[in-house]
Amino acid sequence: MATLEDAVPPGESAAPYLEQVADPRRRDYLQIAAVAWAGVGVGVVALPLINQMNPSADVLAQSTTEIDISAIQPGQAIKTQFRKQPLFVRNLTPAEIAEADAVPLSSLRDPQTLEQRTKPGHTNWLITLGVCTHLGCVPLGAGEGENKGPFGGYFCPCHGSAYDTAARIRQGPAPTNLHVPDYTFTSDTVVTVG
Ligand code: FES
Repeated sequence: MATLEDAVPPGESAAPYLEQVADPRRRDYLQIAAVAWAGVGVGVVALPLINQMNPSADVLAQSTTEIDISAIQPGQAIKTQFRKQPLFVRNLTPAEIAEADAVPLSSLRDPQTLEQRTKPGHTNWLITLGVCTHLGCVPLGAGEGENKGPFGGYFCPCHGSAYDTAARIRQGPAPTNLHVPDYTFTSDTVVTVG
């Protein structure tokens, strides 16, 4: 087996090398360094394990959300979540439906009727992502007493995009209407989104 003396260059004394090994402060430093590396090792191993516990992107992309809409009165809206994004569910009043239907399609930046944005027989239920199509802020208007903007739908406070009662873009920099996700009415009071 190799000894310390073997590592000492020819012609030099082994004493200084023996002192270094015997120095307790130096040993402590070596131990602390070893523990620190062990800590980093655990962190590196633990991160992938923790990440494995989150739903993967494809599992999330296939997930559905069931929403009970029975308590949402005409003129009210709720904010919920769908695939980690804000979702607005709004029960339009007859006046809000009439307001949306009265807008000429030719005047719209992203022309769509309210009927195209809702389900047959459920035109009063407007379900959209609560994500401004400009840069992704969450527009106001779904919460009690929030500013619905000049067109009575939603208003994005980030750069002033205003959406109407069909959540169609009417003013400001957003290029398109609020996105309508895939959804179905499982019953008259339950909607499955996704
Ligand atoms: Fe909504 Fe810019 S993010 S207007």
